[in-house]
Amino acid sequence: MAQVPAQKYFLGFFIIFQVILGYHTSSSADCQGISSEVTCTCDDFGHCERGTVQVDPWLQNTLRTQMDVQLDLPFNYVQFLDAHNSYNTRPYGYLYGANDTCLWPPPYNPSLCTGIANQEFSLTDLLNMGIRAIELDNWYCEDEMRIAHLGSTIDQECNSGHVLFSEPVAEIGAWLDDHEGEFVRIYMNEKYDQGNDGEVNGPFERYLGDRVLTPANLRNDYNNEWPTLRTMREDGKDVVIAHIATAGTGDFYLHQGKFIHPGYWKDKKQNEFSNYPQCGGKNSTNALRFYSDSTHFLFENDYIDGPTRVGIMESFSEFIKCGIQFPAGDQVHPQLMETAVYTWAKGEPATPITDSTSCIMLSGTDNRWYTPTDCNQELYYACQNVINTEDWTLSVSVGSYDVNTQACPNGFRFSLPQNGFQHQKMLEGIDNADVWLNVAPLLDDYQPPVLPTIAPTEGGAQAVTAVISGVVLAAASALFIL
Ligand SMILES: *[C@@H]1O[C@H](CO)[C@@H](O)[C@H](O)[C@H]1NC(C)=O
Ligand SMILES: *[C@@H]1O[C@H](CO)[C@@H](O)[C@H](O)[C@H]1NC(C)=O
Repeated sequence: MAQVPAQKYFLGFFIIFQVILGYHTSSSADCQGISSEVTCTCDDFGHCERGTVQVDPWLQNTLRTQMDVQLDLPFNYVQFLDAHNSYNTRPYGYLYGANDTCLWPPPYNPSLCTGIANQEFSLTDLLNMGIRAIELDNWYCEDEMRIAHLGSTIDQECNSGHVLFSEPVAEIGAWLDDHEGEFVRIYMNEKYDQGNDGEVNGPFERYLGDRVLTPANLRNDYNNEWPTLRTMREDGKDVVIAHIATAGTGDFYLHQGKFIHPGYWKDKKQNEFSNYPQCGGKNSTNALRFYSDSTHFLFENDYIDGPTRVGIMESFSEFIKCGIQFPAGDQVHPQLMETAVYTWAKGEPATPITDSTSCIMLSGTDNRWYTPTDCNQELYYACQNVINTEDWTLSVSVGSYDVNTQACPNGFRFSLPQNGFQHQKMLEGIDNADVWLNVAPLLDDYQPPVLPTIAPTEGGAQAVTAVISGVVLAAASALFIL
């Protein structure tokens, strides 16, 4: 994985940079609320200025690994950490909650406070923390497309003080230019048809351009099936933009379908979620976004309270374990992002992952990943059923680290979990043992096995079982085991 050595240099540079910064900005005294819990430079309202939040490189690298393990999943199965109403964030000024008085987390004290923002940090900082799903509400007024949090209960009108729609799009484009190999999904939450297609498509064209996997690409290049992230990466596509049909009308606002797809997921409130294994209705085939709501404001003599009406997310961990595609949190901050981690232990990988001799051990004690210094110690291997991918077991014998091990039972292959849900299934199948994990899918030159298609969940696996012949199965397992 070529990016690892680069990230190591970046880490060293970052630490030096942090030390220098540490002596020149001690502005945290002026920071308010959540901004006072991170290191950053604050604006006059006490919120971190765009791009100034210092994020732990370990967290960044770990969440990057959690995207990389998903490279061979089709786009619509991939888990993205999502920031609900990402654009409705305090660094954009008082129309976006810079003057909010509610102190996070709820229940709010005093209860007669105002909290109109959903986020504390800029898009750049959210992306730096590991958010990969961005949400934009676009409204047209005063001759421009803008972003604004408006609607029936929000007592505000679109006006010339609202930020232009092109700003967040440019911000995302600039971030992607600086961060190779990342993927971003943009959710256009357009509430009513705003028309003015050019005002939407123009900024997408200008700031994202060929990065976007367009509806035409999906039709012409991928036969209307979502490609895997690995295929997208090879094809230079790292952005997908979608709109979800408006409740009631069922209308999609696709602005001629030049960039925007009709969305493939269903939106649900946080308080409709239930922990693993119920998972709020998540099953093998559906795609779900669960959203929270931190807002609290006066409307027609009553306070509307998001935390009780919709719920808040204090942790991402159950959503990740359930395979939820889009857990959309409010007031996203580094500690919340850390709750999404299921892979590297703190400080890991202690040894960079460079090639197929780099070994990864899952600790049966804390269920986290390590790069042990001794790759020759004898451990079991994590084995995944090639047909029913949710079925994991231990190898029949122990051995030293070997990507080509033949120690898995027939029909199983030495593997690496493809997301948080598969990681959970693996833990259930290996009985708290320390096991080797297959490093191969994280390497740049990895060729994913062609047979059979990796079905992320049981229903899909059954479909694969139905079409696969015994001969193909034998060939497939031979291919995996050799
Ligand atoms: C924001 O709050 C400050 C302090 O309460 C106040 O002086 C200022 O007028 C407020 N600004 C807006 C635009 O509401
Ligand atoms: C999964 O859930 C959806 C509703 O979200 C339902 O329409 C679909 O039939 C379910 N699929 C399976 C395989 O249970």
